[in-house]
Amino acid sequence: MSIKLDTIVKYSHRNGFIFPSSEIYGGYSAVYDFGPLGKLLKDNLVQAWRNWMVTFRDDVVEIEGAIFLHPKVWEASGHIGGFSDLLVEDTITHKRYRADHLIEEAGIMENADSLSPEETDKVIQENNILSPDGNPLSSAKHFNLLVSTHLGPTVDESTVAYLKGEACQNIYVNWKLVQETSRRQLPFGIAQLGKAFRNEITVKQYIFRTREFEQIDLQFFVKPGEEDKWYEFWKDYRYKFYTEYLGYNSANLKFRQHEKLVFYAKDAWDIDYKFGALGFKELEGIHNRTDYDTKQHSEFSGKDLRYRDPQTNEQYLPYIVETSLGVNRLLLSSLFEFYNEESVADSKEARIVMKFPYILAPYKIAILPLMKKDGLAEEAHQIYTNLRKKGIIADIDLAGSIGKRYRRQDEIGTPWCVTVDYETLSEGTVTIRHRDTMEQLRIDIEDISAYLNSETFAEF
Ligand code: GAP
Repeated sequence: MSIKLDTIVKYSHRNGFIFPSSEIYGGYSAVYDFGPLGKLLKDNLVQAWRNWMVTFRDDVVEIEGAIFLHPKVWEASGHIGGFSDLLVEDTITHKRYRADHLIEEAGIMENADSLSPEETDKVIQENNILSPDGNPLSSAKHFNLLVSTHLGPTVDESTVAYLKGEACQNIYVNWKLVQETSRRQLPFGIAQLGKAFRNEITVKQYIFRTREFEQIDLQFFVKPGEEDKWYEFWKDYRYKFYTEYLGYNSANLKFRQHEKLVFYAKDAWDIDYKFGALGFKELEGIHNRTDYDTKQHSEFSGKDLRYRDPQTNEQYLPYIVETSLGVNRLLLSSLFEFYNEESVADSKEARIVMKFPYILAPYKIAILPLMKKDGLAEEAHQIYTNLRKKGIIADIDLAGSIGKRYRRQDEIGTPWCVTVDYETLSEGTVTIRHRDTMEQLRIDIEDISAYLNSETFAEF
C-alpha cells in the first residue's frame, strides 16, 4: 500500500517534525519550519550526507558560503537571463500556473518542462487544457525564479541583491582560493550545505517544493576529458548513499535522464524517489556542468581561474561534475521510506513505527521509569543526564502506562527504550528494548552507552 502524503503531513505535525511557517497567521505559502524532532532528523540527514561525501573520503573539502553574493555572480551564472519556468495565466482570474504542471496533471505527458514555449502552447490548444477554474489560458511566458531584495541605503536599481537561486555559486567563485589554500590537486571536490530561494509558482506539494530550502552540494573539479568517467562514478556513489548507507529500498529509487538540459549542463540525470502515493519524483540532480561555471566567472570577473598542473605546468579551466540534493526532499523521502503501520493483536489501532536507522533517529534512546515514586524517576533522570553528557541524544518520558510510552517512542523512531524498575535500584541493571524486534534484554547501567555505540558502528 502506498503511503499518502496526507498521512505524512499529519504525522509530522502531530510529532513536532514540520510546521507551516507562521501557522497562527494561516501559514505562508511553500515555507515551513522544523520542530524539535524535525530539526534533529534534518541535522542527522545532513551529517549522514557529510559522512558519506566528505568524512569518508580524502578528496573532498567542505566550505560554508554566505547567502548574499555579488549581483554579477547571477549575471555570470546565467540565472538572471535563463533561470525561469514557463507560466500561463487564467485569462479571467489572472491567476498564474506552471504550464508543464497543468499538462502533466491533465495526463497528456510526463516531464512537460522539456517543451519550448511554442510547443507548450500547441499542446495546451490541441488538448483544450483549461485553468483549474475552468477558464481559457494565455500563451506561455518565461518567469524568472530568482528572489530579489535591496542591500544598502537606497532602494533603486543600483542596490538590487539576489538571494541564492542555487546554493553552489559560492563554490565556483571560491574554487581557486579553496584549491590553493587547502593545497589540493585535481581531481578534488568542494562540498557545501547552503540556503537557496526560488519564487516557485506551484506550491501544493508540502516540503517537496518550497520557496526557501537548503541544498547539499558537491562540485567535483576534474581535468577536461575526465568528466564523463567521474560523472559515472558520482552517479553510482550517490545511489549507494541511499541504498547502502541509509538503507533505502532500491525499489523506491530510479535514475532518470533529462530530455531538455538546463543551460549549464552537458548531461543531467536525476535520482527519482517514490514518494508514496505521489509516485516517482526528483530527489536529487547529478549534472555534468563542463567548464561552463569556471569559464563564465573568469570572463565576468576578469580573474584567471585556471588550474596549473604542478607536474606538467599545463594551465586549464577545470570541468565540474555536480551532485545537488535538497535537504527538504531528503527529509520527506526519509519519512516515506521508514514510516510503517503494523497491526497488533488485541488492538484496533495500528502500531506506527518509524524504522529510522540508528544514525537518523532523532532520539537514540528513551529512558522510561516504571513508576515516578520510590526514587525511580530520580534514577531514570540520572541515567538520562549521564547519556546526554556523553553526547547521546536521549529522551525521558514519565507520563502514561509503559505500553503507551513504548508506542510513543516507536512512532518517533527511537531505536532503544530503557525501563528503570526496582531491580535497577537494587542490582544496577535495566531492561533495554529494541524498537523493531520488540525484544528485551537485561543489561548493566554502565553498559548502555557501549551497547548503543556498538550499534552505531554496526550501521557503518
Ligand atoms: N545547483 C544545481 C541545482 O540547483 P536543481 O536541479 O535546480 O539543480 C537540485 O536543484 C536539487 O535541489 C533538486 O534535486 C531538489 O532536491 C532540490 N530542490 C530544487 N528546487 C527545490 C524546491 N523548490 N524545494 C525543495 N527542494 C528543491
